[in-house]
Amino acid sequence: MIIIIDFGSQFNQLIARRVREHNVYCQVEPSNISVSKIRSLQPQGIILSGGPSSIYEDNSPIIDKSLFDLGVPILGICYGMHYMVHSLGGKIKKAEKKEYGFANLDIIDAEPLFKDMGTGFQCWMSHGDSAMELPENFVVTASTENTPIAAIAHHKQKIYGLQFHPEVEHSINGSAMIGHFLFDVCHCSKSWTMKSFCDGAVSQIKDAVGDKKVIMGLSGGVDSSVAASLIHKAIGKHLFCIFVDNGLLRKNEKEALEISLIKNLDLNIRFVDAKEKFLSKLQGVTDPEKKRKIIGSLFIEVFEAEAAEIEGAEFLGQGTLYPDIIESKSAFGGPSSIIKSHHNVGGLPEKMKLKLIEPLQLLFKDEVRKLGAELGLHDDLIWRQPFPGPGLAIRIMGEITAFRLEILREADAILLDEIRKAGLYRELWQSFAVLLPVKSVGVMGDKRTFANCIAIRAVTSNDAMTADWAKLPHDLLGKISNRIINEVDNINRVVFDITSKPPGTIEWE
Ligand code: XMP
Repeated sequence: MIIIIDFGSQFNQLIARRVREHNVYCQVEPSNISVSKIRSLQPQGIILSGGPSSIYEDNSPIIDKSLFDLGVPILGICYGMHYMVHSLGGKIKKAEKKEYGFANLDIIDAEPLFKDMGTGFQCWMSHGDSAMELPENFVVTASTENTPIAAIAHHKQKIYGLQFHPEVEHSINGSAMIGHFLFDVCHCSKSWTMKSFCDGAVSQIKDAVGDKKVIMGLSGGVDSSVAASLIHKAIGKHLFCIFVDNGLLRKNEKEALEISLIKNLDLNIRFVDAKEKFLSKLQGVTDPEKKRKIIGSLFIEVFEAEAAEIEGAEFLGQGTLYPDIIESKSAFGGPSSIIKSHHNVGGLPEKMKLKLIEPLQLLFKDEVRKLGAELGLHDDLIWRQPFPGPGLAIRIMGEITAFRLEILREADAILLDEIRKAGLYRELWQSFAVLLPVKSVGVMGDKRTFANCIAIRAVTSNDAMTADWAKLPHDLLGKISNRIINEVDNINRVVFDITSKPPGTIEWE
């Protein structure tokens, strides 16, 4: 396996994904990990990530220098390379200005990272500082016009540095470079596949749970569905699922879940109709954070009451993914965790004295989808767009009422129907309707109208940390708008949201 040391780069998860795309297992660890811990993990290689800091800043992240004496191959990227050069006795030049964007890389020494890549190619830079003087026994292996020391190597010790970012798609040959590091330098084998993961996870769950019971909340989303079917494969009828209908679901959500998951797997499941409870607690509430808190704690209350009826449950299954684990471990924390309080069932395990089973905690979303396919889940379920825990409540600006929920549900169903028909559903990270708190004047037939407004939100993204608004074709937007206005009562205007994240967020609340 490979260890990626997190120096705070916005791309560290991307590095991990690139490694795993080569079927090699990797773990992201914070930079305050001890070198003895690293040694005990027996990595075949170490990647030092980039980071926002300059090594000259007071609190810039560091790792013990003895890392370089482990005898394990190391690849430093951007800040990772600066740190390497600085700690091994070279010099780093403080930036006068940042270099950001494309650069043409000229290869000086192709071995081992640039093998079979010709004389040069385009790479992607994002840095301030750069290397000025190399430590002993290092050589320059590539340069660009602005950055004479763009790649370095200590061939004997198998330590390499790249000033640019091989992990971003804009760096041509980036994935091949990472592949050369993994296979030619570290001699990794391609043993990380979803089949091997699935077999390992099933036997681990069996060992951990034995003949005890696991309870789990199902939301109908990809993560909880895949986690449930994996646990089910391991322990069958010892898994008890609970689906809470909070009244904030999309049209036909429960039915879709029944068809796609429950019938196929023959799951033990309890459906709890808590619509009235949620709606009455949300009455008159307009503040987004208040909505989230009410929904979060009511969910726990309802789930807990239901779970209490399942005697002897010792475990709580959750669909936690690797990015959440990385974020919670990161020395820097992830931006999305601070911006909005995300709803999860974090309070439950301690309160109910349950042990956690989180079988997806080493996986990225794309791997979860592959695992879903390995488990035989239906494509429609595997490729579902994410849907937030608080549901339509955070897509209705202002007060949530049964009437407003119905308007949004209908508009949203039309939007999704047209997106699917246009063959765009899988390409988009999310696409949905938002009900705005304004009314505007219109004319329908010969009558003046004064009715509600729907916003269309559609974004592309890899991980929801950043997102771009999707450039939906104008005729598709026209069709969605026409259908919503004609088919949904009380809507007379549709607008399209053209905000990226940042500065916006994906959801409106
Ligand atoms: P934002 O709006 O923060 O959303 O850009 C990022 C991703 O997280 C989802 N989201 C949530 N998911 N509970 C959830 O389970 C929440 O409270 C919540 N808020 C946002 C959102 O749909 C997007 O995929």
